[in-house]
Amino acid sequence: MSHSVYSENPLLTPRQDHSIAPVSVDLLPQHLAIIMDGNGRWAQEQGAPREEGHKVGSEVVNTIVRTCRRWGIKHLTLYAFSEQNWGRPKSEIKALMKLLDQYLREQRSEILEHRIRLRAIGNLSKLPFWVRTPLQALIKESAQAQGMTLTLALSYGGREEIVKATQKIAQKVQQGQLSPSDITDETIQAHLYAPDQPAPDLIIRTSGEQRLSNFLLWQCAYAEFDFLDIPWPMFNEEALRDVCLRFASRERRFGLTSAQIDAKTQKITSS
Ligand code: IPE
Ligand code: IPE
Ligand code: MG
Repeated sequence: MSHSVYSENPLLTPRQDHSIAPVSVDLLPQHLAIIMDGNGRWAQEQGAPREEGHKVGSEVVNTIVRTCRRWGIKHLTLYAFSEQNWGRPKSEIKALMKLLDQYLREQRSEILEHRIRLRAIGNLSKLPFWVRTPLQALIKESAQAQGMTLTLALSYGGREEIVKATQKIAQKVQQGQLSPSDITDETIQAHLYAPDQPAPDLIIRTSGEQRLSNFLLWQCAYAEFDFLDIPWPMFNEEALRDVCLRFASRERRFGLTSAQIDAKTQKITSS
Protein backbone atom coordinates (compact mmCIF):
# COMPACT_ATOMS: atom_id res chain seq x y z
CA MET A 1 0.00 0.00 0.00
CA SER A 2 1.42 3.37 -0.96
CA HIS A 3 2.15 6.13 1.52
CA SER A 4 -0.59 8.32 0.06
CA VAL A 5 -3.30 5.79 0.91
CA TYR A 6 -2.20 5.90 4.56
CA SER A 7 -2.16 9.67 4.67
CA GLU A 8 -5.58 9.93 3.03
CA ASN A 9 -7.20 7.63 5.56
CA PRO A 10 -5.99 8.25 9.09
CA LEU A 11 -7.62 5.00 10.24
CA LEU A 12 -5.11 3.11 8.10
CA THR A 13 -2.10 4.95 9.50
CA PRO A 14 0.31 2.29 10.75
CA ARG A 15 1.35 2.51 14.39
CA GLN A 16 4.31 4.84 14.71
CA ASP A 17 7.58 3.12 15.47
CA HIS A 18 8.69 4.76 18.71
CA SER A 19 11.94 2.86 19.00
CA ILE A 20 13.72 5.61 17.11
CA ALA A 21 13.60 9.36 17.68
CA PRO A 22 11.23 11.42 15.50
CA VAL A 23 14.05 13.85 14.67
CA SER A 24 17.83 13.59 14.52
CA VAL A 25 19.56 13.61 17.88
CA ASP A 26 20.95 17.14 17.49
CA LEU A 27 17.39 18.49 17.10
CA LEU A 28 16.12 16.75 20.23
CA PRO A 29 16.22 18.67 23.50
CA GLN A 30 19.48 17.78 25.18
CA HIS A 31 17.75 18.37 28.50
CA LEU A 32 14.02 17.74 28.76
CA ALA A 33 12.26 18.67 31.99
CA ILE A 34 8.71 17.56 32.74
CA ILE A 35 6.13 18.86 35.21
CA MET A 36 4.10 15.68 35.55
CA ASP A 37 0.75 17.17 36.53
CA GLY A 38 -2.89 16.08 36.56
CA ASN A 39 -2.73 12.66 38.25
CA GLY A 40 -5.27 13.45 40.95
CA ARG A 41 -7.85 15.09 38.73
CA TRP A 42 -7.57 12.31 36.17
CA ALA A 43 -8.27 9.67 38.81
CA GLN A 44 -11.16 11.64 40.31
CA GLU A 45 -12.75 11.96 36.89
CA GLN A 46 -12.83 8.15 36.73
CA GLY A 47 -14.39 8.04 40.19
CA ALA A 48 -11.13 6.68 41.64
CA PRO A 49 -9.05 8.02 44.54
CA ARG A 50 -6.25 10.50 43.68
CA GLU A 51 -3.67 7.86 44.64
CA GLU A 52 -4.78 5.75 41.68
CA GLY A 53 -3.71 8.59 39.40
CA HIS A 54 -0.27 8.63 41.00
CA LYS A 55 0.02 4.87 40.48
CA VAL A 56 -0.80 5.08 36.77
CA GLY A 57 1.43 8.16 36.57
CA SER A 58 4.39 6.19 37.87
CA GLU A 59 3.86 3.60 35.13
CA VAL A 60 3.95 6.43 32.57
CA VAL A 61 7.29 7.48 34.10
CA ASN A 62 8.72 4.03 33.21
CA THR A 63 7.61 4.34 29.60
CA ILE A 64 8.89 7.87 29.18
CA VAL A 65 12.27 7.21 30.81
CA ARG A 66 12.74 4.23 28.49
CA THR A 67 11.71 6.21 25.41
CA CYS A 68 13.95 9.18 26.21
CA ARG A 69 16.88 6.82 26.74
CA ARG A 70 16.26 5.04 23.44
CA TRP A 71 15.92 8.30 21.52
CA GLY A 72 19.14 9.71 22.94
CA ILE A 73 17.85 12.52 25.18
CA LYS A 74 20.83 13.05 27.47
CA HIS A 75 19.16 14.65 30.49
CA LEU A 76 15.62 14.02 31.69
CA THR A 77 14.41 15.87 34.79
CA LEU A 78 11.07 14.90 36.32
CA TYR A 79 9.19 17.09 38.79
CA ALA A 80 7.88 14.39 41.10
CA PHE A 81 7.22 16.21 44.39
CA SER A 82 7.47 19.89 45.27
CA GLU A 83 8.36 21.55 48.58
CA GLN A 84 4.79 22.83 48.59
CA ASN A 85 3.38 19.31 48.09
CA TRP A 86 4.31 18.57 51.75
CA GLY A 87 1.15 20.52 52.56
CA ARG A 88 -1.08 17.83 51.01
CA PRO A 89 -3.06 15.34 53.11
CA LYS A 90 -0.77 12.90 54.97
CA SER A 91 -2.37 9.90 53.26
CA GLU A 92 -1.59 11.25 49.78
CA ILE A 93 2.02 12.06 50.77
CA LYS A 94 2.43 8.54 52.14
CA ALA A 95 1.09 7.02 48.90
CA LEU A 96 3.50 9.14 46.85
CA MET A 97 6.48 8.16 49.02
CA LYS A 98 5.52 4.48 48.75
CA LEU A 99 5.37 4.78 44.97
CA LEU A 100 8.80 6.39 44.93
CA ASP A 101 10.21 3.57 47.05
CA GLN A 102 8.56 1.02 44.76
CA TYR A 103 9.91 2.80 41.69
CA LEU A 104 13.46 2.67 43.05
CA ARG A 105 13.22 -1.02 43.92
CA GLU A 106 11.57 -2.08 40.66
CA GLN A 107 13.67 0.04 38.31
CA ARG A 108 17.05 -0.47 39.99
CA SER A 109 18.24 -3.24 37.64
CA GLU A 110 17.04 -1.43 34.51
CA ILE A 111 18.70 1.82 35.63
CA LEU A 112 22.00 0.04 36.22
CA GLU A 113 21.76 -2.16 33.13
CA HIS A 114 21.20 0.81 30.83
CA ARG A 115 23.86 2.93 32.51
CA ILE A 116 21.37 5.60 33.58
CA ARG A 117 22.83 8.05 36.05
CA LEU A 118 20.22 8.76 38.72
CA ARG A 119 20.30 12.11 40.49
CA ALA A 120 17.93 14.00 42.76
CA ILE A 121 17.46 17.72 43.33
CA GLY A 122 15.57 19.19 46.26
CA ASN A 123 15.55 19.24 50.02
CA LEU A 124 16.14 15.49 50.34
CA SER A 125 16.55 15.63 54.13
CA LYS A 126 12.78 16.06 54.35
CA LEU A 127 12.14 12.67 52.72
CA PRO A 128 11.36 9.79 55.12
CA PHE A 129 14.49 7.72 55.77
CA TRP A 130 12.96 4.59 54.20
CA VAL A 131 12.83 6.44 50.85
CA ARG A 132 15.98 8.52 51.27
CA THR A 133 18.13 5.45 51.97
CA PRO A 134 17.37 3.48 48.75
CA LEU A 135 17.38 6.75 46.79
CA GLN A 136 20.85 7.74 47.95
CA ALA A 137 22.10 4.17 47.48
CA LEU A 138 21.01 4.08 43.84
CA ILE A 139 22.36 7.59 43.22
CA LYS A 140 25.73 6.39 44.50
CA GLU A 141 25.60 3.09 42.62
CA SER A 142 24.84 4.81 39.30
CA ALA A 143 27.10 7.84 39.80
CA GLN A 144 29.65 6.79 37.17
CA ALA A 145 27.08 5.76 34.53
CA GLN A 146 27.67 7.35 31.15
CA GLY A 147 24.18 6.96 29.68
CA MET A 148 21.20 9.26 30.20
CA THR A 149 21.03 11.33 33.37
CA LEU A 150 17.67 10.95 35.09
CA THR A 151 17.10 13.66 37.68
CA LEU A 152 14.19 13.43 40.09
CA ALA A 153 13.04 16.73 41.57
CA LEU A 154 11.90 15.66 45.04
CA SER A 155 10.90 18.00 47.82
CA TYR A 156 12.05 20.53 45.25
CA GLY A 157 11.38 24.25 45.07
CA GLY A 158 13.09 26.68 42.72
CA ARG A 159 12.92 29.56 45.19
CA GLU A 160 14.24 27.36 48.00
CA GLU A 161 17.12 26.30 45.72
CA ILE A 162 18.03 29.94 45.05
CA VAL A 163 17.73 30.81 48.75
CA LYS A 164 20.08 27.95 49.69
CA ALA A 165 22.58 29.04 47.01
CA THR A 166 22.42 32.62 48.30
CA GLN A 167 23.07 31.48 51.87
CA LYS A 168 26.15 29.48 50.81
CA ILE A 169 27.50 32.42 48.79
CA ALA A 170 26.86 34.87 51.65
CA GLN A 171 28.76 32.55 53.99
CA LYS A 172 31.78 32.61 51.65
CA VAL A 173 31.61 36.39 51.50
CA GLN A 174 31.42 36.57 55.29
CA GLN A 175 34.45 34.29 55.61
CA GLY A 176 36.39 36.46 53.19
CA GLN A 177 36.62 33.73 50.51
CA LEU A 178 34.62 35.74 47.99
CA SER A 179 34.12 39.41 47.25
CA PRO A 180 30.56 40.61 46.36
CA SER A 181 31.80 42.05 43.06
CA ASP A 182 33.08 38.59 42.06
CA ILE A 183 29.57 37.12 42.19
CA THR A 184 28.45 36.27 38.66
CA ASP A 185 25.74 34.06 37.28
CA GLU A 186 28.31 31.23 37.25
CA THR A 187 28.73 31.69 41.02
CA ILE A 188 25.00 31.21 41.54
CA GLN A 189 24.90 28.25 39.14
CA ALA A 190 27.81 26.66 41.05
CA HIS A 191 25.78 26.66 44.26
CA LEU A 192 22.61 25.07 42.91
CA TYR A 193 21.59 21.46 43.63
CA ALA A 194 23.07 20.14 40.34
CA PRO A 195 25.65 22.77 39.32
CA ASP A 196 27.12 20.78 36.43
CA GLN A 197 23.81 20.08 34.75
CA PRO A 198 22.98 21.99 31.54
CA ALA A 199 19.87 24.18 31.67
CA PRO A 200 16.66 22.57 30.35
CA ASP A 201 16.10 23.16 26.63
CA LEU A 202 12.44 22.27 26.90
CA ILE A 203 10.05 22.27 29.85
CA ILE A 204 6.71 20.58 29.35
CA ARG A 205 3.70 20.43 31.65
CA THR A 206 0.70 18.18 31.34
CA SER A 207 -2.82 18.78 32.75
CA GLY A 208 -3.66 22.07 31.05
CA GLU A 209 -2.15 24.30 33.75
CA GLN A 210 0.20 26.91 32.34
CA ARG A 211 2.49 27.68 35.23
CA LEU A 212 5.87 26.62 36.58
CA SER A 213 4.80 25.97 40.19
CA ASN A 214 8.30 26.72 41.51
CA PHE A 215 10.14 24.47 39.04
CA LEU A 216 13.70 25.28 37.87
CA LEU A 217 13.24 29.03 38.25
CA TRP A 218 16.91 29.90 37.73
CA GLN A 219 17.51 27.30 35.02
CA CYS A 220 14.46 28.13 32.86
CA ALA A 221 15.82 31.47 31.58
CA TYR A 222 16.05 30.31 27.95
CA ALA A 223 13.96 27.15 28.06
CA GLU A 224 11.23 26.51 25.51
CA PHE A 225 7.82 25.72 27.00
CA ASP A 226 5.11 23.34 25.87
CA PHE A 227 1.86 23.01 27.81
CA LEU A 228 -0.30 19.99 27.06
CA ASP A 229 -3.97 19.59 27.89
CA ILE A 230 -3.78 15.87 28.67
CA PRO A 231 -3.20 14.74 32.26
CA TRP A 232 0.07 12.94 33.05
CA PRO A 233 -1.52 9.43 33.23
CA MET A 234 -2.53 9.87 29.56
CA PHE A 235 0.88 11.05 28.40
CA ASN A 236 2.61 8.55 26.11
CA GLU A 237 5.26 8.08 23.44
CA GLU A 238 3.00 9.60 20.80
CA ALA A 239 2.61 12.78 22.85
CA LEU A 240 6.36 12.88 23.49
CA ARG A 241 6.98 12.50 19.78
CA ASP A 242 4.71 15.48 19.01
CA VAL A 243 6.42 17.55 21.71
CA CYS A 244 9.84 16.79 20.20
CA LEU A 245 8.65 17.63 16.68
CA ARG A 246 7.30 20.99 17.88
CA PHE A 247 10.55 21.69 19.73
CA ALA A 248 12.62 20.88 16.62
CA SER A 249 10.62 23.38 14.56
CA ARG A 250 11.29 26.31 16.89
CA GLU A 251 14.08 28.81 16.49
CA ARG A 252 15.88 29.64 19.72
CA ARG A 253 17.67 32.95 19.39
CA PHE A 254 19.09 33.59 22.88
CA GLY A 255 18.72 37.33 22.33
CA LEU A 256 20.45 37.26 18.94
CA THR A 257 19.02 37.64 15.46
CA SER A 258 17.86 34.88 13.15
CA ALA A 259 20.88 35.42 10.90
CA GLN A 260 23.19 34.55 13.77
CA ILE A 261 21.55 31.15 14.28
CA ASP A 262 22.38 28.21 12.06
CA ALA A 263 19.00 27.14 10.63
CA LYS A 264 19.98 23.48 10.42
CA THR A 265 21.54 22.86 13.80
CA GLN A 266 19.82 25.72 15.72
CA LYS A 267 23.24 26.52 17.17
CA ILE A 268 24.76 29.99 17.37
CA THR A 269 27.06 30.63 14.41
CA SER A 270 30.10 32.87 14.84
CA SER A 271 28.92 36.48 15.04
C1 IPE B 1 1.01 15.64 39.91
O1 IPE B 1 -0.36 15.41 39.92
C2 IPE B 1 1.77 14.82 40.92
C3 IPE B 1 2.18 15.59 42.11
C4 IPE B 1 2.03 16.87 42.29
C5 IPE B 1 2.81 14.83 43.17
P1 IPE B 1 -1.31 16.13 40.96
O2 IPE B 1 -1.37 15.31 42.20
O3 IPE B 1 -0.91 17.54 41.16
O4 IPE B 1 -2.69 16.04 40.23
P2 IPE B 1 -3.74 17.22 40.06
O5 IPE B 1 -3.00 18.37 39.43
O6 IPE B 1 -4.25 17.55 41.42
O7 IPE B 1 -4.77 16.65 39.16
C1 IPE C 1 3.60 20.80 40.50
O1 IPE C 1 2.29 20.41 40.51
C2 IPE C 1 4.45 19.79 41.20
C3 IPE C 1 4.57 18.50 40.55
C4 IPE C 1 4.10 18.15 39.38
C5 IPE C 1 5.32 17.52 41.29
P1 IPE C 1 1.23 20.95 41.58
O2 IPE C 1 -0.03 20.24 41.29
O3 IPE C 1 1.77 20.80 42.95
O4 IPE C 1 1.15 22.50 41.24
P2 IPE C 1 -0.03 23.54 41.47
O5 IPE C 1 -0.42 23.42 42.91
O6 IPE C 1 -1.14 23.17 40.57
O7 IPE C 1 0.55 24.87 41.10
MG1 MG D 1 -1.37 19.28 40.27
